This record gives sequence, structure tokens and C-alpha cells, in this order.
Amino acid sequence: MRAFCTASGSRSRPHAPHTRENALNTLDFARRKAAREPISMVTCYDFWSAEVLNRTDVDCLLVGDSLAMVMHGFDSTVQATVEMMALHAAAVRRGAPDKYIVGDMPFLSMRKGRGFAMDSVQALMQTGVNAIKVEGEAGQAELTAHIVESGVPVMGHLGLTPQSVQAFGGHKVQGRNEGQAGRILDSARKLEAAGCFALVLECVPRQLARRITEELSIPTIGIGAGPDTDGQVLVLQDMLGMNPDFKPRFLRHYADGRGLIRSAVDRFAEDTRSGAFPAIAESYG
Ligand code: KIV
Repeated sequence: MRAFCTASGSRSRPHAPHTRENALNTLDFARRKAAREPISMVTCYDFWSAEVLNRTDVDCLLVGDSLAMVMHGFDSTVQATVEMMALHAAAVRRGAPDKYIVGDMPFLSMRKGRGFAMDSVQALMQTGVNAIKVEGEAGQAELTAHIVESGVPVMGHLGLTPQSVQAFGGHKVQGRNEGQAGRILDSARKLEAAGCFALVLECVPRQLARRITEELSIPTIGIGAGPDTDGQVLVLQDMLGMNPDFKPRFLRHYADGRGLIRSAVDRFAEDTRSGAFPAIAESYG
């Protein structure tokens, strides 16, 4: 699983199962904030989990660049490429036709000039995702505004932005001191001004997340940012407990996914060894 920071009013909404008819659109994000209806988002990287998630009540799916770690076994998100992101995003769209899907712009894709950035946005959007997500603000607010003006919804991402983990000296909570907190707040304002429709806040103190959430009119979606953001996002494999040893403070395990899969596969192996599988009823005559 991906490495995360190690340190540090529940609101509810009526149950509304998601189908193509009532799937979110970009404008709904602001409405959900105004109505104080929290937004739920999980990562999704492949067709089969997309098919499962398409039938859940989660509001939106994120094809995060964390797929470099979770799906490809790299030790950071730096190894994600536009091609990788587009391949996974297309599979997720095929599996989850009814969900609002956000695709991550990978490492340096905003930093190699406008042409490269726009080609990357095009490659992602043409997979069928609804929006892209961009890490950071410094030095790219104008480009972010240009993408928005081109008709592409952009979700911002501030705090512990994993593509900058080397610069941060590791996966550390960001915004703990006044200087850092001020810079994150300033970036949040600039991303809103650039036209972002939502903002992910990752591993920041909850007081800072709350301040940003109160000040911005666009919704904030937190991961390790406390309970006061307008929504929450988790990496699917992390919340499913695929790695029970990975338990940063902010993560809640909603299942023992690893245990479940191991026991099912072990039972199949045992049944194969003992001859209990397949039965006659599971065979063709
Ligand atoms: O890539 C990712 O998984 C993310 C998160 C916000 C979880 O960016």
C-alpha cells in the first residue's frame, strides 16, 4: 500500500443509491457543500473493482497516481506516467459507467510546458473521466486556470502531495507551522480563483483543514485532514485492509480484505488437493 503521513461533526445525508440518473456532475460538488452533504470518494484503478464500486453508494472514484504503488509495486507515485494513468482510467470508466471519475495528472505532467500538460489532459479526458486532479499550486496556477478555461474540470490537491515527497523529506503532515499553513491556505485560495471545483487536502492538521473548508466556496475532500472537510477520500485497498500492517492514524479498516482473500484461496487450494472441488454438479456431463 502507499505510505502515508504518520501523525496527525459527522454529517449525514439521506441514502441515495447512485445510478446513471442520479450520478454526480461537476456542478453538484458545490451544491453538496452548500447543502452540507459530505462527498465520499475512493480510489479505483481497474475494471473489476470499478464494476463493484459502480454498484455502491460512494459518490465518486479517483484514478489516483497511487496506482503506481498499489497496482505496480513502486515505492512512490513518482513512477506513474500519463500512459499508465490513461490505461487505468479507461478500464475504470468501462467498469463504472455510472460514477463521477477523476483522473490524476501524474508526476511532472504540469511542469513540462503547456503543450505537454494539455496533451496529458487530453489523453486523460479522452478515457472518459469527468475531471482531472492536479497536485500543488505554486508555479502552475495560470496553467490550472487555462485547463479550467478549456472546459476541463480540475480538482486541486494540497498538503502532503505525494509527488513532492522527496522535497518534504518523507511522508510528513504538512502545515504544522504557521509559515507552511499560511502557504497552503494561500494556495487553496489561488486554486479556487483558478476555477478548481473541489480541493483534496491530504495530511494537514484538522484546524487548518477546517479553516480552508470554511473559507472556500468549493468543497474540500480530506484524507488525514480531520472531520471538518466537505468530504473524505481513502485508497480502496487501504480501507479494505489489504495490508493490515498499514494503519496510519487517519485510516480506518472497513474490512479484513487480505484475510478474506487468503481464506477463500486457501479453501480452494485445499478443496483441489482433497478432491472436494469440483463436485459432479460443477462438471459438464
Ligand atoms: O493518488 C491518490 O490516491 C490520491 C489520494 C488523494 C488518495 O491522490
